[in-house]
Amino acid sequence: MVFLTGDCHGNFRRFSRRYFPEQEVMDREDCIIIAGDFGGVWANTPEEAYWLDWLEQRPFTTLFVDGNHENFHRLDTFPVRTWHGGNVHQIRPHVLHLMRGQLYEISGKTFFTMGGAKSHDVEDGILNPADPDFLERQNALKRNGRNRFRVLGRSWWPEELPSDGEYLTALETLYRENWQVNYVVTHCASTRIALTMDRHNEADDLTNFLEMVERRLAYEYWFFGHFHDNRVIDQKHILLWEQIIQIL
Ligand SMILES: [Fe+2]
Repeated sequence: MVFLTGDCHGNFRRFSRRYFPEQEVMDREDCIIIAGDFGGVWANTPEEAYWLDWLEQRPFTTLFVDGNHENFHRLDTFPVRTWHGGNVHQIRPHVLHLMRGQLYEISGKTFFTMGGAKSHDVEDGILNPADPDFLERQNALKRNGRNRFRVLGRSWWPEELPSDGEYLTALETLYRENWQVNYVVTHCASTRIALTMDRHNEADDLTNFLEMVERRLAYEYWFFGHFHDNRVIDQKHILLWEQIIQIL
């Protein structure tokens, strides 16, 4: 069984038995895939460790592509291993980060993954704690009720958008597969789709890359998150948020 859902932002209550009773008949071979903004690897607090252990104790395997709201520096500290044909960061033995530009074979179906997205909740700026006037600027923003800012290395990381190397890895994977996969799982959407949304509706390098992939790749379904809605965009593109859907 393979289920998919959208942004969690560190809140995993939807995976409790109450909201996700399907787990009664699931085992470790069965997966749930989160389409980015997992948020469970963030501030390295005891509470966070509790929830990661809680996820590990679920009867299924939890998989996630990264979104924009992830602590990328902490994600990078976890060991990389191969899982179902692609690279993963192992957060817990059954809580795995599906890395960028990878392909996994699950239940005879191929999944191409490409995490990342540009943060748009930063209208008030990105502050650098190394700047001498950091605290002053942060306090001034808070005083003026302007809280749409993020702090470099604490709540925002430049790695939210893929590097050249990650784009290259993605292309190598797609060429290897002759531009044919069963499913695509990303956090962001192609430019074409992003521009139809009422939030985060701007083009950037990643949305343009995904648009190129969308035009060239043969696939059955493309699942993504980021835009905080549950919506069938068209026959192939499914936007996920809190809803959990079963695809296999
Ligand atoms: Fe997001």
